[in-house]
Order: sequence, then C-alpha cells, then structure tokens
Amino acid sequence: MKRLLLCFSSVLIKVALIAQSDNIPTLQWRPVYHFTPDKNWTNDPNGLLYLNGEYHLYNQQNPFENFWGHMSWGHAVSTDLIHWKHLPIAIPEKIKDSDTTWIFSGSAVWDKNNTSGFCKNGGCVVAIYTAHSPNRRNESQYIAYSNDGGKTFVNYEKNPVVDLNRLDFRDPNVFWYEPGKFWLMTVVVPDMHKAQFYSSPNLKDWTLLSEFGPQGYTGANWECPFLIQLPVEGTNVKKWVLGISAAGGERGVFEQYFVGDFDGKEFKNDNAADKVLPLDYGDTYYAAIPWNNVPGDKKIYIGWMIPNTQPTWPWRGQMSIPRDLSLKQTPEGYRLIQKPSSVITKSLDKLSDNVVSVANLELNNEEINPDKAGKIKGNAYWLDAELNVKPNAVAGFRIAQQKDEGGKVINETVISYNSSTRQLTVDRTNAGGKLNEHALKRTIDIEGNSNAVKLTILLDKSSLEVFVNDGEAALTTYIYPGEHADNITAFAAGGSAEIKNIKIRDLSNRGK
Ligand code: FRU
Repeated sequence: MKRLLLCFSSVLIKVALIAQSDNIPTLQWRPVYHFTPDKNWTNDPNGLLYLNGEYHLYNQQNPFENFWGHMSWGHAVSTDLIHWKHLPIAIPEKIKDSDTTWIFSGSAVWDKNNTSGFCKNGGCVVAIYTAHSPNRRNESQYIAYSNDGGKTFVNYEKNPVVDLNRLDFRDPNVFWYEPGKFWLMTVVVPDMHKAQFYSSPNLKDWTLLSEFGPQGYTGANWECPFLIQLPVEGTNVKKWVLGISAAGGERGVFEQYFVGDFDGKEFKNDNAADKVLPLDYGDTYYAAIPWNNVPGDKKIYIGWMIPNTQPTWPWRGQMSIPRDLSLKQTPEGYRLIQKPSSVITKSLDKLSDNVVSVANLELNNEEINPDKAGKIKGNAYWLDAELNVKPNAVAGFRIAQQKDEGGKVINETVISYNSSTRQLTVDRTNAGGKLNEHALKRTIDIEGNSNAVKLTILLDKSSLEVFVNDGEAALTTYIYPGEHADNITAFAAGGSAEIKNIKIRDLSNRGK
C-alpha cells in the first residue's frame, strides 16, 4: 500500500495530511456557504452534472475516515450552488475477495438519447470514472449508469472501457461533442504529462483521437483534465480551454490552462509549448472541472481546496465557490476570466443578513473599520470593493484581524494593492493556524496600468478566495484565525487611497 501511494505526487500530499488528523472538533473553521462533506475527507469534485433543476456534485470521498482512503463517490445536490443537500454515497469502493477497487475521479453525463442502451425511461446518468486497483497496479476507465436520477449506479458488466495496462492513467472528463455527434473523453497519462482525447458513439467503445503534451508545466504528474469551449467576452469568438492539475512539484499545488482550438480530433495550443498559464494564484486550488448540461450552455466550474497542514474535524477538505468561466482578449492573447457564479450572485442579497455599504472613503496613511456598527461578525462574508490607490501607496484590507490591548496584531490576513508595482498581495504571515510555510505571501501581477483595482473577497471561516478586476485573477487559500479574530479594516500606507465603495454582505446564515 505505502509503495503504491508513493507513486502519485498529489497523493504524497494527501499522505502527508494523514498524520495530522487528531479528531478535535474545529467548528470555528467550518465554512457555511461553501461545500464541505457532511463528515470525513474529501478531495476532487467528480461527475458535475445539472439535471432537472439541481446541480449534482459528486466528490472523492472517504466514507469512513477523515483522511484519504477507501475512495468512493460522495454525492450532494443544490438548486442554488450554496445550500447543499448531502445524499448517500453514490458509487462505493468495490471490495471482492479482499481485492479492492477504488472509485477515482471522473465525470457524469446525461445520456438523453440512450446512446448507451442503459436507459430505462428516456435518458439516464452515465458516470465515467477511473477504477484504481492497488493490487493489480492498474488504473483504467469504467462506466456505471443510473436510472434513478444519479442516486445509485450499476457498474457496466464489460468494464473497463479504456485500459492501457498502466498504473497511472486516470480522471476521464466526458461531454457530448455536438459538431462531431460523439462523446468526447479527455483523460491523462499522469507520469508522461500527456492528455489523450477519445471519441465514442455510446460511452462503451472508445477510439483514440490524439494526444496533447508534454507542454506547459510538467513539474509534477498531470491529473484531472477538462476541455471546454468558452466565449470570448464582447465578441462572437469561441476558443477551447484545456485545464490540467499538477501538485507536488516546485509550484506546489497548481492548476494550469492552455487556450487554443479543438477541431474534433486534436487540441492546438495558441501559445508556445513552454508558456504556463495558472488558473489560480493560491496554494490550494486543484482538480477543478466544469458542470455538464447546464441550461443555456452556461460554463460553471468548481475546484477542490487541498487542505493545509491544519487539521480540521469532523471534515477535511472543501470545494471553492462555483465560478463562471469565459475568456478575455488581451495583448498577450486570450486569458481566462473566472467570477463567482451568477447563479449565486443573482441571489446574494437574499442570502445576506447584514449588509455594510460605504462610499468614497478617503484614507491617508491610516486604518479604519468600515463596519462602525459592528454588524459583520463571524468571518462568513462577501466583500466587494473598488479602490483607487495613489502612486507609491499601498491600500487594501486587513481581515480576520485581532489585536491585543496594546494594539499588537494577534491575527490578520492582509490583502493589498500597490499601484506602482501593480501587484496584489495576500499576506498570511499572521493569519493563524498551520499554513504552508512556502506560501505565506502570494503576489499577483495585475494587467493594465491603472491605479484602480476591483476586489471581491470571499471569507468563509477558514476559506479565502480573492477575485481581482472582475475575475481576471483568482487566489484561493486557507486561513485559521483565532475565534475572536473577525475584525475588518481598510487601510492605506505610504500615501493615500480612495475606496470608492465597499459592500460587505454577512452570509453567516445563508439567508436562513
Ligand atoms: C487528484 C487525484 C486524482 C485521482 C484522485 C484520487 O487529487 O489524485 O488524480 O483520481 O485524486 O482520489
């Protein structure tokens, strides 16, 4: 078992976390408006599928313990991507004669025309996943079908449907490719840093179309690919994006994307083979994949937030906020835009109990609390702000803050913009908890040359996401502040700044 675990770089991270679990309840860090499992360990989102008004979220789940193992598909549904209803395990680990098969990552599709022949009443849900067999040292692609709306699955009796007789071969991502009228699978050969594309008329018989890679970042095994066609904002152009996760190399936890064209056979990268485009600038965002079958062809994805070394209990690991995807044309080429999904933002006011709004705040080398009445308590909020920072000044927010009586900082996380260097920094040096030492301070270079910056900060107890300039960059991380560290201040240092407006919505009760 140990020997097998050492074969996967991201698994190494998961193994490192095992030793840390010590069953002390940490409800002060439990997110309220992000998905966490009811209990126990989660990693990747799997089988994201919209069906009959519900977003299905399957997830890599250990049904028994608060660390990685016994991998099965957990299951939850939501109508608004905020309130999740936990359902029983959808695809459990398969144990036969003391041989176990773990249900690794994959996707789910709605087979509305019964191309598979599995469907009883019109369409059915088909899951395509990696069966991971430690004993046979094999990973191959399996399918399973559900005729009860995705609650329970029956494994196809002639599995596997794709097998290269390899130990490392996983994470099939499948959708219906309308121009070619076939199912398209993207899957990775992790240690070779290759994505493969397969086509199928029926989800059972697959034909290899082409391979992509090695390109971009190859410092760790490739995992959890996705291929998606996205609109370029303000144009009629559509381009293809290939996302690939890779954790455990010099970049730590990392997910990259390639932009290009897919002609029904091959993916062609627009950029030079060595160009690396990060999907996120934090130290936790991983294994993100998009939902299939969303009405209006809306493109929404969600990522796993790899837990830090800080143990949490009775859950471990969570998902990011679901994000809408599009592309933007820049002088350097097309770049990904990701914003908290409009499915959520359209009902944000209904979800907020208390709202603090402040306009035209002038700050000159000072720090003030924008929430004078102390309405926002408990570190579960959504903060939007527009700042104009004078040259040579640095301005932003200190959040999850606590000072002692002498004014000395006990905890704080500093999110700041420097208009001279055009850098956005998230500094977790005093954030609290056990954090990844190498990633205490992360900086993003912001496009353009303006003093203005727009920030959306989602703090949900221990989960922190910062979106810059309407989704041009995202940074996803964790903090573990002390119980009384929930102060918010706005500040300008080294000069002056105007905070044009701040809106803080308290989501502690999620509208309940
Ligand atoms: C990524 C990953 C996948 C694999 C799954 C196993 O985090 O390693 O490649 O399918 O987790 O839990």
